[in-house]
Amino acid sequence: MKILSKNGNELLLLAMKEDSAAKGEYLLIEDKSRSMIVQVYDEEYLSSQALIEDIVKEEVVNASSVENLHDPLNIGSLLRLVRDARIFRAKIRASVNDGKLSSDVTWLPSRVESRIRRLSMKELNSYLGRRGVFPIPLGRTGDSEEFEIFAEDIDGKLTIITGKKESGKSHLSKMLVKTLVQHGAFVVVFDLNNEYSGLGWNRDGTPSCIHRQVKVLEPGNALRFSLNYCGKGAVSGMLKNALDMPAASLREFFRIWDWLENKQSLSMEAIGNAVNTWNINELVRDALVSRYHVIQSSRLFADSGLRFEDVISAGSGGAALVINMGEVSPTVRRMVVELVLTKLVDLLERQVIPPIFLFAEEAHLYIRDTYWEDIITRMRHFGIFTTFITNQPDAISDGIYRQVDNIFLFNFTNDGDLDKIAKVSLADNDTIRSIVRTLPQRHCLAIGKAVCDLPVVIRVAAAEVLTLGETKKFFKK
Ligand SMILES: Nc1ncnc2c1ncn2[C@@H]1O[C@H](COP(=O)(O)OP(=O)(O)OP(=O)(O)O)[C@@H](O)[C@H]1O
Ligand SMILES: [Mg+2]
Repeated sequence: MKILSKNGNELLLLAMKEDSAAKGEYLLIEDKSRSMIVQVYDEEYLSSQALIEDIVKEEVVNASSVENLHDPLNIGSLLRLVRDARIFRAKIRASVNDGKLSSDVTWLPSRVESRIRRLSMKELNSYLGRRGVFPIPLGRTGDSEEFEIFAEDIDGKLTIITGKKESGKSHLSKMLVKTLVQHGAFVVVFDLNNEYSGLGWNRDGTPSCIHRQVKVLEPGNALRFSLNYCGKGAVSGMLKNALDMPAASLREFFRIWDWLENKQSLSMEAIGNAVNTWNINELVRDALVSRYHVIQSSRLFADSGLRFEDVISAGSGGAALVINMGEVSPTVRRMVVELVLTKLVDLLERQVIPPIFLFAEEAHLYIRDTYWEDIITRMRHFGIFTTFITNQPDAISDGIYRQVDNIFLFNFTNDGDLDKIAKVSLADNDTIRSIVRTLPQRHCLAIGKAVCDLPVVIRVAAAEVLTLGETKKFFKK
């Protein structure tokens, strides 16, 4: 390979037939004591007008004559080599001066003397000083090297996994959840397809290595709370935000709650009785009664229920709380999310539980708009570190993208989605457009802190646990 030209922050490299580089691969251009790290993001033919005319001429000649052309100097084969020459477009990412990585890329490597070779992930990592204590193996890079990120890279960070339908997003997120739990972390998953429960099982049906740490919580069954445990704050948040309770009714509700709490007889039944007999305006009563019935039919409250601090306690070796929301109504989903998040923040605030990781699938379906900002700014300070998984990148607002630390991008072919993601993400437009458009299934482009801001294409490994989550089909193969 040779350098052909430079254009802004990209280099055009001339590649002959035997040179190869996959999109996303890193190359090192060595020029005496300095080197430049570039990343290939596109490949095209070397096209000049003369070359094209040549190709056309030869086709015409071939088509109209049957004799072999007289070519004693074998110029034809040379010409064919020229016609097969390709151009790699590569982005300049960094340079290496005396073995040290630097962002000074203001110099130009020599076109004549510099040598271009492939840069292995191992070398790149050693330049970057990328290391950590808790590895999360994800799969392999383009040239089949093992690739891992570190749990530290998603600790305290906001991560987004996005890509089109069935591209492997949930699969990657399950790998993250599993490894985090293995490293002793606590993970709460809002699961819309009831698929994360498979983390407890291997594909052959035996219990997986985190079997005892996966707690599947169905709203109304294992996921029930006592009113006392939730507290007035969480319940009123739920009434206001998930059930749209008007302010006047909310005030009456508080009065009932305080009265019952004073009597130490707070229970669903007592609230029901009070709502019916309380001396209030009939409209307010109607509002309260209708909410009461929704809450009662959700079966989210019981005399005794789940206590997060029993499951999440430092030193107990990690756990995944999978909240199965696939089979509950949208209203109950919103109620669950409201209760769980408010309670977790409350516990974190009082430092009863250690920080937790939150994985939210298609969160725009159950997280209210005003909660987004809360989750990513306020909650991060309390210790809730979120990973959003979605196939609709435009469901996430620009404000959130601006604070994102890591993005795992799967394939997108739709121009609208590509536009959105190219505009907001942490890497440059050209790289994203060109690489993401042609990413095969189960490959993703990792961008952000986890890869030290150098985008990497990863072939995500298969999982040994049961992944579930396949789309149900009528016609089976
Ligand atoms: N790296 C992989 N190796 C093996 N199988 C995979 C891999 N990635 C995904 N799959 C399988 O492909 C299918 C689709 O993957 P997955 O459910 O993760 O996609 P998704 O992007 O979450 O889709 P959806 O948008 O429907 O939620 C699943 O059956 C999953 O097990
Ligand atoms: Mg999915």
